[in-house]
This record gives sequence, structure tokens and C-alpha cells, in this order.
Amino acid sequence: MCGIIGVVGASDTLDVLLEGLERLEYRGYDSAGVALVRPGETWRRRAAAGVESVAALRVACADAPGDARTGIGHTRWATHGAPEAVNAHPHLDCTGRVAVIHNGIIENHAAVREELEARGHHFASVTDSEVLAHLVEESRAAGLDLLDAVRASLAVVHGAFAVAAVDADEPEVIVAARRVSPLIVGTAPGVSYLASDVPAILGRATTFYAVNDDEVVRLGPEGFRAVDLEGSPIRLRQLAIDWDLETAEKGGHDDFLSKEIAEQPEALRATLADRRRRDGAITFDELRIDDDELVAVRRVVLVAAGTSHHAALVAKYAIERWARLSVEVDIASEYRYRDPIVEIGTLVIAVSQSGETIDTIQAAREARRRGARVVAVSNIVDSSLAREADAVIYTRAGLEVSVASTKAFVTQVAALELLALRLAQLRATLPASDVEALFLGLRAVADQVAATLARHDAVRDVAATLAGARDFFFLGRHVGFPTALEGALKLKELTYRHAEGYPAGELKHGPLALIEPGVVVVAVTTDPALHAKMLSNLAEVKARGATVVAVATDDDDSVEAVADFVLRVPATEPLFTPMVDIVVLQLFAYDTARLLGRNVDRPRNLAKTVTVE
Ligand code: F6R
Repeated sequence: MCGIIGVVGASDTLDVLLEGLERLEYRGYDSAGVALVRPGETWRRRAAAGVESVAALRVACADAPGDARTGIGHTRWATHGAPEAVNAHPHLDCTGRVAVIHNGIIENHAAVREELEARGHHFASVTDSEVLAHLVEESRAAGLDLLDAVRASLAVVHGAFAVAAVDADEPEVIVAARRVSPLIVGTAPGVSYLASDVPAILGRATTFYAVNDDEVVRLGPEGFRAVDLEGSPIRLRQLAIDWDLETAEKGGHDDFLSKEIAEQPEALRATLADRRRRDGAITFDELRIDDDELVAVRRVVLVAAGTSHHAALVAKYAIERWARLSVEVDIASEYRYRDPIVEIGTLVIAVSQSGETIDTIQAAREARRRGARVVAVSNIVDSSLAREADAVIYTRAGLEVSVASTKAFVTQVAALELLALRLAQLRATLPASDVEALFLGLRAVADQVAATLARHDAVRDVAATLAGARDFFFLGRHVGFPTALEGALKLKELTYRHAEGYPAGELKHGPLALIEPGVVVVAVTTDPALHAKMLSNLAEVKARGATVVAVATDDDDSVEAVADFVLRVPATEPLFTPMVDIVVLQLFAYDTARLLGRNVDRPRNLAKTVTVE
């Protein structure tokens, strides 16, 4: 996710910007840029050198004007357009005087860009963000001041944004606004700041304010004034910040893992934004594969490792159900060594958060060598996997720092289910009204995840009671099975306790022999169609002395008969349940690990990216 900083009224403007961008490093970025404003002149430099981008930018700024008192800076995490300098922010308008930085996604950028181009605007990048610079330019040309020009521009765009704009004709002003993407304002005597996160301006600003959705702020050296989108004055809420830098980087959370678990609603919204055209067709800007090729698909093979493999298992149920295509899921490290069959019409989907997992890259290579078309699903733009694949879909989860994958899982499931709906549209295997309802349902999952996160206290109580247990079985049926696998993986890697995920129906075929007092069985019971069967499986383990924890929907009043503890979640469409249900299992693993004193961000023996076989 991109980082934003701005300052007006400073004597060391460039230092403020570069220091702020360095401090935003933990958000992850692939390019960076700044714009400095003096009367009549906007000076810009950008660099795209991966994690070295801010260092490269510092070098590129050697000839920066020393007397600029206003500036904006940005670290970019690519979503639209490759991570190249030309796509890095700030973006300029046609006159080169207006500069804009943006975090978020402009959903209707394609239509807006078309209209702007028809009116003679020239675009320099392929980003969604650049439309904002040209929209501001038009309003300025029509005589609006920068504040009103930004307001007018925001009336045209849909989507998520934290945006800041400067103009050489108002050299001591920054106008910033927010919808969804984070933005704060800070002040100190004679200087005003804005940033996506507190760390960027910690130690510089003395007072901090929160900008809420649909609020616009005009910053000058003397302070700021805020208005709503209609231009009516509003007051910003002051924030009580007494964090040190490390706490600030974690957004006030104790660790990156809890921050990333909490970011899941935002990550889901970003992944699903901008995915449907006006005619209802689901679309992936970045896919690089045309509809004819997708129509020709006869069989789907998913390859992935670890958590990504569990997301792929969920996708099997969705693609088979909605698109009526036969789907196989393979563990990436097994795929290439088993002489796989690739027939004409085989589509291979390689799923990897990092896009650097060697097993998954090798599986994708092997599939291509045998003639398959390969689509990568990755969180990192231009990752090795994304570059090697024929096509790519990006999950826009933002940087995942913690070794244990959380927001990657929910966004992978969302992206893969979106692809399943696209395949269903192209193959006409679902009525348009069903696709529409499912698409809207998928977009609503972010709110259900947020509602689930709000119940953390109830999960913490159960974790505290069971923290001494040493053996856990996670059970589920249908998509509850991959959810159980993922819940078990989270518990074992975070707590070092023995945890196994099983299809509930398989229990009687062996593992039931291990059930005895002291063993904890965690069961996913949220699918109404399989509820009765799950409950009878739970009765079997309870009869043998296990302690039962059920993940159950709010309206389920029969589960308590067989469960010692119930973790409640909002009900959703059965194929969406993994994204909601996993949240309580993530929290359960997290809380247990904390109680056991584990390092939740860096579990022993594990690496975030596995680049050896
Ligand atoms: C578990 C975890 C790992 C990764 C696996 C694949 O929490 O993080 O199991 O899911 O190493 O990584 P990616 O998705 O980067 O290919």
C-alpha cells in the first residue's frame, strides 16, 4: 500500500519528505517520488529501484531547489501499471504545474481517462491516479482555487483514495482528501504536515488530526482548514499520539501480525475494487489474457504452497460450482515431479503471495513447458512469478511483513472467486442475476470480516482457557475443510502446538483413534447444508472426551449441544465462508501464541519467502 507525505512551511522541505518516505518503508514499495513547489514552478523527481527507491531518489534529488517551502512525496506499491519510474507518483498535469499523489484505487479511471483524452489531455503513465492531476488541471483552468478544484475532481471519481495536490500557482498550499485510504494531518508552529501514517511525521509534528472519509483539507504554513465534499467547514478530530517510532510503524498494534489481521477488510476492498465494467462484465485490468482464451479453457489446475495452497483448495469448489469446469489442486513442490498431464485447454493458476516461492515458480515453468497457459495470482506487482506467467491477477493486500500469512489468504480467495465468476460469465454457466448477486455478496464480505474482528474479546477468552492444550484437530467439510487446514497451519506455526486439519468425514477412517480427553477439536460448522453432518461428527469426538470449539453462525442455536465453546461469525454465502471463518481461527492462533510468549511475527525455523526447494 502506498505511503504519502506532505509538508508546507518548512525550511528543510526535501529532508522532511525523504525522511518521511524512509520511515514509510515498512508499508512496502517499489518506487518513490517527490515534488517541490516554488512560486511558478513545480520540480519533480522519481525513482523505481524496488526497496532501494528512496535511496535512489535521494541521489536523484541532488540538484533540488533549496528554497522550496512546500512539497509532497510518495512511495508506490504498484496496482495499476508496472513499478517503473514513469508510473511513480507525483503525477503532473499537462502544464507541469499541478502535481498529485494518490493512495488507493480510482475505480472508474478508464472511463474518466477516455473523456479527458477526448478533451485533449495527454497522459504520461498508465496509472489510475494520473486522472486526478488532469481533473484538477481542468478545474483550475475554469478558475477554481486548488481546494475547490480538488473537491470538483473528487466528485468525478469513484473508489478509494488518500490524495494530495499542489499547484505552482498556489505555492504555499497543499490540498488533501480521503475516502477509505488512511490520511492524517499534523501541525507544528509555522509548519503543516500530512501523511498516510503517523511514523512519517513523528518527531516533526506536535499535534495530530484524523482526516475522515469525504473530508478535504487545505494546508498552509499557518495551519489548516477542513471542509466536507460540499465545501461546508468541519472540524478534524485531534489524535492522542504518544507512540515511539516502532509502535507507530505497527499502527499502534503490538505486532505486525495483529496489524495485518486487522487490515483484512481494507485488503479485501482493495482487491475487489475496480473489477466490474458498466455492462456487468467482471474484469481484471492486469490479466493480459483475452476472453477467447478463457472460453477455450477445458480444465483448471491450481498450484501453490502453504496458505496459498489452502486458498487454491477453496477456489476448486467455486470454479467447479459456478463455472462447471473440472479443477485439480496440486501442492507446487509435487507438481513438477509427477509427470503432470497438460492437455489442450488446460489453464494453470499459480497462486503465491510473494510471487517468489521457488516451488510455485518451478511448477508454473513446468506447466508452461508442457504447453499450458499460466495465470499467476500474486500480491507483488512484477514478482518473478508474475513476470514469467502468461497472465496475472494481483491481490492488493499491501505488504505482509509477518511470516504467517493472513490478509494474503482472504484476498487470494476473493481474487480466485472473482475469476471463477468471470469464467461462469464467459461460459454462461450461471444466470447474469446470480453472478450479480454473488459479486455483490463478495464485496460485502469485507464488512462481515470487520464485524468478526470486532468480536476479538470472545476469541481471546477461549484461547486463554485452552492455552495449555497440546493437541488440536481442525475439522471441516466442503470449503470448511480448507478453512480447517488453514486454521491448523496458523495454530501450528504460531504456537508450535500439534495441530492437524482434516475433512470431518475422514475422521472415522483413522484419526478418531487419537481422540481422548485433553485433545481439542476445532470445527467449522458454518455451512447450513452440511451442518447436521458436522454436528454428528462432533458428537462422536465429544463422546470420546475431546473438548469441542465450534465456529458457528450467529443464528445457529443447535451447536451448543455439542460444543464446549462457540466462536460466532456472521452468516454468509457458503463459498464465501472461508474468508470470514478464518478470521476467528487467525485470532485464536494469535491469542494462544501471545499467551505462550511466542514471537508472532517471526515464528522459529520459518522464512517469509521460501526461495529454496
Ligand atoms: C503460512 C505461510 C506459508 C506461505 C507459503 C507460500 O502462514 O505464510 O505457508 O503461504 O510459504 O508463500 P507464497 O504465497 O508467497 O508463495
